[in-house]
Amino acid sequence: MNDDSQHNDRIISQFTRWAQPFAELPIHSAEDGMARTLAAAVIAPTDRVLDVACGPGIVACAAAAHAAHVTGIDLTPAMIEQAQARQAAAGLANLDWRTGDATALPFADASFDRVVTRYSFHHLREPGRALAEMRRVCRPGGRIVVIDATPAPECQAAYDRMETLRDPSHTSALTLDQLRGLGQAAGLEEAIVDSYRLEALLATLADADDMAALDAMFDADIASGEDRIGVQAWRAADGVRFLFPISIVAWRR
Ligand SMILES: C[S@@+](CC[C@H](N)C(=O)[O-])C[C@H]1O[C@@H](n2cnc3c(N)ncnc32)[C@H](O)[C@@H]1O
Repeated sequence: MNDDSQHNDRIISQFTRWAQPFAELPIHSAEDGMARTLAAAVIAPTDRVLDVACGPGIVACAAAAHAAHVTGIDLTPAMIEQAQARQAAAGLANLDWRTGDATALPFADASFDRVVTRYSFHHLREPGRALAEMRRVCRPGGRIVVIDATPAPECQAAYDRMETLRDPSHTSALTLDQLRGLGQAAGLEEAIVDSYRLEALLATLADADDMAALDAMFDADIASGEDRIGVQAWRAADGVRFLFPISIVAWRR
């Protein structure tokens, strides 16, 4: 088994266990981030949209209200089941779903007007490969949007350690400059850079077995007042809370 297929197995294992909790967590449907995502995508009523690594279809279903048709693709079948359930609950007809890999998209060149992916690049071993595939399936003049956590450069190593403790399928979160650099390397023209902070309760994002190590890492930051992880953590009545640093980058193809 090669490194790619081992990593994909880790992804499927992690997101099969987390498919339902992820789908139900309110922060993933938070209005401010979704409004900013849709504003960056500039979707017209005639547009065909692709949501890459769509998970439970939260972005895909929101985009479907503005588009002619949306396709969602994800590596994890349990996530696609969640997406189908979300579509049915919303009574939306203009979506379809595929199981597949972001780095080898099963679509013809230039078959979409808008290609988006949210919270996925930090799970990929080679996000540049996925961006190249997103570019290939987007028509010339179309738009590509990537939304992901982008730690500050001086916090990237600690941020990755924290995320890997919580989720063994984490690879590395790009800094904003690294993400913008991937777009430049792919020959894309930058259109929009935006950001938002997503407030999270640590205990809702991690397995109980991993909480002691995570708590210790966050407590070291909170006690020292040094924001080494770069997420402005604090201890609230219900446990450790923090702010994911999210960036949105949209490019014209
Ligand atoms: C954190 S979830 C984000 C889901 C969704 N995009 C959202 O924002 O709600 C990451 C998703 O990426 C998917 N994923 C990871 N690597 C992938 C790959 N190589 N190809 C397709 N999907 C992948 C996982 O299965 C999971 O559903």
